[in-house]
Amino acid sequence: MIKARNVSLVYRDGTVALDDVNLDLHAGGLYYVIGPSGSGKTSLMKLLIGIEFPTTGFLEVMGQPMRKRETAKIRKLRRDIGPVFQEFKLISGRTAIENVIMGMRFLDIPMNKAKELAKNALVRVGLEHKAFTLVDRLSYGEAQRVAIARAVARRPALILADEPTGNLDHDNAVKIFRLLESFKDRNTTVLITTHATHLIGGCNADALLCVEKGKISIERRGGRT
Ligand SMILES: Nc1ncnc2c1ncn2[C@@H]1O[C@H](COP(=O)(O)OP(=O)(O)O)[C@@H](O)[C@H]1O
Ligand SMILES: [Mg+2]
Repeated sequence: MIKARNVSLVYRDGTVALDDVNLDLHAGGLYYVIGPSGSGKTSLMKLLIGIEFPTTGFLEVMGQPMRKRETAKIRKLRRDIGPVFQEFKLISGRTAIENVIMGMRFLDIPMNKAKELAKNALVRVGLEHKAFTLVDRLSYGEAQRVAIARAVARRPALILADEPTGNLDHDNAVKIFRLLESFKDRNTTVLITTHATHLIGGCNADALLCVEKGKISIERRGGRT
């Protein structure tokens, strides 16, 4: 699913964000990417989604080599990736269900099918009763659930959640982790980054990717811990 060989990412100003990273993540796995602020977690996510490219080394996501000259193919690959961001990036002035539908607008899904997928996704995140509420009127926790519904509605093969609990209190953060974990299945790989290592105690990860100053070490967990 994800293969990295000696991958480094050096930004234009010379900052080494990732340093000689090697990974083999399998399909249907659940992975937490943990490390302090500035360690390189978001940079890894950017490489996986093709917003940045390795400066050196080789990276492959779902069989697609992540190289700058393969932008068209990478754009196609992104249809299979459901991203969740810390700042939600919901569209204000629109309802929850409209936001979830808008997440599918480039996917050539007929409108009635998109509506059905959106409704199902809102049920999965426990927000069916807020489907027609403007996202501006939702709590932080609810807004993040809408963002997750948007990411999962099209049933992506890879869910990438970058600090999805950054703005949430302890209880809501743990609930969001459990919710994201629930989307892991045979066909769906889930990667969650967090600097809040105290929150992942009861997590159900296959492995932890521990990021420190751009280096990644892997701690195998083998499922429920
Ligand atoms: N666009 C950029 N240009 C230069 N340096 C960057 C850029 N984005 C991030 N960095 C630097 O790269 C390092 C890793 O950042 P980041 O991946 O955002 O870490 P994290 O998500 O773990 O907080 C940090 O030193 C950060 O300041
Ligand atoms: Mg980050």
